[in-house]
This record gives sequence, structure tokens and C-alpha cells, in this order.
Amino acid sequence: MSGDVRPAPAGVDASIPSIARMYDYYLGGKDNFASDREAADRLLAVAPEIVTIARANRAFLGRAVRYLAGEAGIRQFLDIGTGLPTQNNVHEVAQEEAPDARVVYVDNDQAVLVHARALLATDPRTVVVDADLLDPETITDHPAVREHLDFDRPVALLLVALLHFISDDDRPYEMVAKLRDALPAGSHLALSHVVYEHHPEAIEEAEEVYRSFLHRTGHSRRTRDDVRHFFGDWELIEPGLTYVTQWRATGPAPTDPAKVWIVGGVARKP
Ligand SMILES: C[S@@+](CC[C@H](N)C(=O)[O-])C[C@H]1O[C@@H](n2cnc3c(N)ncnc32)[C@H](O)[C@@H]1O
Repeated sequence: MSGDVRPAPAGVDASIPSIARMYDYYLGGKDNFASDREAADRLLAVAPEIVTIARANRAFLGRAVRYLAGEAGIRQFLDIGTGLPTQNNVHEVAQEEAPDARVVYVDNDQAVLVHARALLATDPRTVVVDADLLDPETITDHPAVREHLDFDRPVALLLVALLHFISDDDRPYEMVAKLRDALPAGSHLALSHVVYEHHPEAIEEAEEVYRSFLHRTGHSRRTRDDVRHFFGDWELIEPGLTYVTQWRATGPAPTDPAKVWIVGGVARKP
């Protein structure tokens, strides 16, 4: 496709945009095609702050993983909706804190799986699994997941910038409850989610754009209070569910938090 320097990996249709490649484009990556850029530009025309939001989300992910592998002492990570490899990937951040940290990456996008497997071919502590959040048992019962992670010891479940792509019709609260139930006490859940209340027009445009290739129905317009329900009865650790820029920020927040309409938090299973 014109303008694309890399060919599409086998099994990837470059003419249909993908969530992961659009996100790669927002982050300034190279693993995206003209279809992704066109779809992303449509959204950026309404909400140019999405670039800031994507970067702030990625920074939140890094701080959350650092907290989990460091202070919280977690050694096992189940990262669902991994995204294309970029800077500060989960296994890199976790293993900087704890070299024995084990990571399972789960995604349903072939481009993500191909790139992640290429990056990780030499790391025995990290595996990549092709599975779909819409069917949580295919993740928790997956032989590679069971082989790599010990479900009798605490696991950090990461659902970062993923659940806002799942509409209410697909019952995301039930799915996340199943995942929480599969994990032992002391496990943690880190998640981020865009919120509807600050810029409804942007969320509605995003729904239009993503709908055009995801073929989904229903909405995923959630407020911060709605997002809190994904944690169930798990205990949010300080500072709770905040704008991602405010969550354990190590320096001054880079931008007006209310313009970064995505919240994030980490909770612990009692
Ligand atoms: C916006 S990216 C987020 C990447 C990373 N978690 C982060 O926050 O930097 C969302 C990822 O979720 C994946 N995804 C979307 N729906 C999914 C599903 N139903 N099951 C598994 N992965 C999914 C996409 O392919 C994409 O890689």
C-alpha cells in the first residue's frame, strides 16, 4: 500500500484498520498502514488530544507495572490486550524490577501476535497467546497460560486501554468478574478506560470510527463510576481510580488532567 514501508505480516489485512495499529500510530510507531492512519486521522480531527491520551496511558501502564513488580511484589503478569510492541513493554518494565517476572501477553490481533512473538523469541519468561477477552475461559484455561503462570500464586491482571472497546452488549462486567474469580487472593488488577463525561462528542466519534471495522453494536459509554465497577470488591490501592496522569505520577502532570479523559487504577484481591 502506498506510503507503507513494511509489508503486512501473513494473516493481516492491511486494508482494514485495527485497534492496535491505530494505537501504534497515535504513539508515533511505524507498524501501521494507510487504512489505520485514515481511521485515526478521522478521530484526531475531532479529538487531537488522543495523541496525548495514548501517551499518558502508556506511561500509566509503565508506572503500574513498576509498582506491581516492585512494591507489590508480583512475579506473574497476565496482560490482555497487549498492543504492538513499543517502548517500555510490560515484560521489560517488570523484569527491570524483578528479573524473574513471568509475563503472558494475550491479544486477538494477528499483527500484534506476529510482532510480539518476533520480539520475544529469545525470552523464556514471556509467552504470547492468541485469545479473545470476549471468551475469558479461553484465556484462563489456555494450556500455555496454565503452564506459564501458577494460579495458586498472585497474578497481576492487566486490562489497559482495552475495555472501552467492548460494548455493553458483550457483557464486559461479567467477563472481567470471571477473570477476577480465576485468580487467588493477593492478585491485582490494573486497568485504564476512557470516560464519557468530559468529551462525549469524541467518544461518540470514536464509536463511529471503530464500529466501521469492528462490526459491533451497542455502546461502551462509561463514566468514572461505571469504570470503578470493573474492580468488583477488590481494594483500590492509593490514589484510587484517577486520571492516568495523576496515578502515582513521578513528576508534574504533563497536561491538564481533565483533558486526558482516561482514568486508571490498580486494585488488590483481598
Ligand atoms: C489500545 S491497545 C492497548 C495496548 C496496551 N494495553 C496499552 O495500554 O498500551 C488495545 C489492544 O487490545 C486488543 N484487543 C481489542 N479487543 C480485544 C479482545 N476482544 N481480546 C483481546 N485483545 C483485544 C487490540 O488488538 C489492541 O492490541
